[in-house]
Amino acid sequence: RKKVTIQTLNALRESKTPITMLTAYDYPSALACSSSPLIDITLVGDSLAQVCLGYTSTTQLTLEEMIHHARAVARGTSHPFLVAEMPFGSFHTSVSDAVANAIRLVKDSGVEGVKLEGGREIVDVVRRLTAIGIPVMPHIGLKPQTHVATSGYKVQGRSVDGARKIVLDALALEEAGAFSVLIEAVPLELGKYVTDRLKIPTIGIGAGPHTSGQVLVYDDVMGTWSGHKAKFARRFANLKEARDDAVQRYCDAIRDGSFPNPETESYTMDKLEWAKFI
Ligand code: KIV
Repeated sequence: RKKVTIQTLNALRESKTPITMLTAYDYPSALACSSSPLIDITLVGDSLAQVCLGYTSTTQLTLEEMIHHARAVARGTSHPFLVAEMPFGSFHTSVSDAVANAIRLVKDSGVEGVKLEGGREIVDVVRRLTAIGIPVMPHIGLKPQTHVATSGYKVQGRSVDGARKIVLDALALEEAGAFSVLIEAVPLELGKYVTDRLKIPTIGIGAGPHTSGQVLVYDDVMGTWSGHKAKFARRFANLKEARDDAVQRYCDAIRDGSFPNPETESYTMDKLEWAKFI
């Protein structure tokens, strides 16, 4: 498949073809995303913190860690449009800090766009990054980086005020130049309303079936994540069971002496050489 561009994403939205996005955190998961010509966007999300690095919150992830992983993902990415998330703290101190960190992320890792959690409070950053040529995908609705302030990971936009806030955020971000908006954990009616109001593609996660596209976390799709499973996360495989079973059978085979097989899994020495040796 030809490289996916922002133009491709706009055309998919225009033709009402749902956009497909999946996260990746390293070279193998990036290859998995690129294995289907149907994947449009690979996202190095900051869920990296929990699913790959064992942190309890995305707020603990550093820019250095994100760059390290995004570089590996870039090496394994072919056609998908490649976006990486700016970690908590890397775009909050000032517009110039945000620009410097986004430039570092793009230059050092080779990703094509950046994702930032935030609504109207980040429009200045979105405007500036867009102006210098870094495509931005803001993330609204449930923003995991603010889970402490919101007392948990809760569905957003269920009240009139909450819904209005999300619509105003989305409109302001579009006006600031965002190429797409990611919306997490909002009622499906609101997912559709925001999508209808915007001219750029919306990517939903727990935002119902009417957004321009969908994203899920790689480990949820593969069934390798054993932590909390959100209502919206569907498992498309149960690799955890297969993985743990393989580890168990590997150990059993070593213990019972059936691994390695002397005929098929071992090397032998030339008989004459061996005779001389001993
Ligand atoms: O970090 C992440 O993986 C995300 C999800 C919404 C896809 O932001």
